[in-house]
Amino acid sequence: MNPTAQVASNLFSELTGSSPESVWSAPGRANLIGEHTDYNEGFVLPFAIEHRTYAAVGRRDDGIIRVVSTFDRTPVEVAIVELSALFGGAAGEAVQSGSVPEWAAYPLGVAWAALARGSYPGVPGVDIAIASDVPIGAGLSSSAAIEGATAAALDELWGLDLTLLDMAKIGRTAENQAVGAPTGIMDQVSSIMGEYDSATFLDCRSLETQAVDLGFANEHLSVLVIDTRVKHSHSTGGYGERRASCELGARTLGVPALRDVTVGDLERAKSVLDDVTFRRVAHIVTENQRVLDTVDTLRAEGPRGIGGLLVASHVSMRDDFEISVPELDTAVSAALDAGAIGARMTGGGFGGAAIAVVENDRLDETKQQVSSAFAAADYAEPNQFTVTPSHGVLRDA
Ligand code: GLA
Repeated sequence: MNPTAQVASNLFSELTGSSPESVWSAPGRANLIGEHTDYNEGFVLPFAIEHRTYAAVGRRDDGIIRVVSTFDRTPVEVAIVELSALFGGAAGEAVQSGSVPEWAAYPLGVAWAALARGSYPGVPGVDIAIASDVPIGAGLSSSAAIEGATAAALDELWGLDLTLLDMAKIGRTAENQAVGAPTGIMDQVSSIMGEYDSATFLDCRSLETQAVDLGFANEHLSVLVIDTRVKHSHSTGGYGERRASCELGARTLGVPALRDVTVGDLERAKSVLDDVTFRRVAHIVTENQRVLDTVDTLRAEGPRGIGGLLVASHVSMRDDFEISVPELDTAVSAALDAGAIGARMTGGGFGGAAIAVVENDRLDETKQQVSSAFAAADYAEPNQFTVTPSHGVLRDA
């Protein structure tokens, strides 16, 4: 068994005195390109990574749902009939009032959102023990990994008959409502529906997905993650403000979502929007186009052609969407100086990680140059590791 799956299984046994009925897992993700486009009904191109979260689960006969994790070994328990009182109010209320710790709102929120979809009288109680090797707060979707593993486990134990897309929607509802983070659906779809060696090209309006071959291995390229260790949270501050700016932009331009604005419309948009809103809109509109161009380039030329698009995406996030931080900019420019094909911050921003597409035989040199650039700027040593496109949700035992 995978060592982290074993940790989840042992944690389950400590909690209950018996073995789990099954262990499910879901991965974190890195986003190749398409940032903040998901809640604007646009396009994204993320891929699942090999770091995963494992949920060891088993039924109990008393209608209680109990969760424990390696983040916090104190179990949290709630009666299933109490879930809607806990999470059905204002978004994030249960977390903000301290009724449940934030980490527990993810699995408990998934249970609530899964049951809220229909009428499931008399579902049994469950014990859930969670262990993860997805770095937390690095912009690699540790939260979607918890949601995906929990949704798949509950689907089995409760016989919910969910599709993968249902699970992704349940994860997003949990995150929006139970945790209070106004995020889109990219992370959940990427984590749950990922495929080996491919990125998931998702149309966030139709929710149609296509697997796009990345071809990194054939070209002797690696994706280097540079985790700046600058922590961020999307349930407070900047993320919600960016979302509000995008919604204001769409309303002012008279479209249902920024998906409906094209690069050719930007000149008119500039004359009607204030400067800040225009720059937020410009990022989304150009980023959508960059996702489409990246997919076309990958299909026509392979991964060596996408570097310029990745860099343009970073510049747009740094200057127009203003979600980068100096550590991320340093990571990107140091990786490019070391010869990376392309680099950009990945995820929601305000901290977390950058990715760089690097020649395999330049990896060590690139990591060293990034480390030196961080040391020269007096930043904490970044955590650098490679990721490979991996599979979505799985039953591990
Ligand atoms: C976070 C959110 C996603 C997405 C990205 C930015 O990861 O969870 O829904 O908006 O930020 O692209």
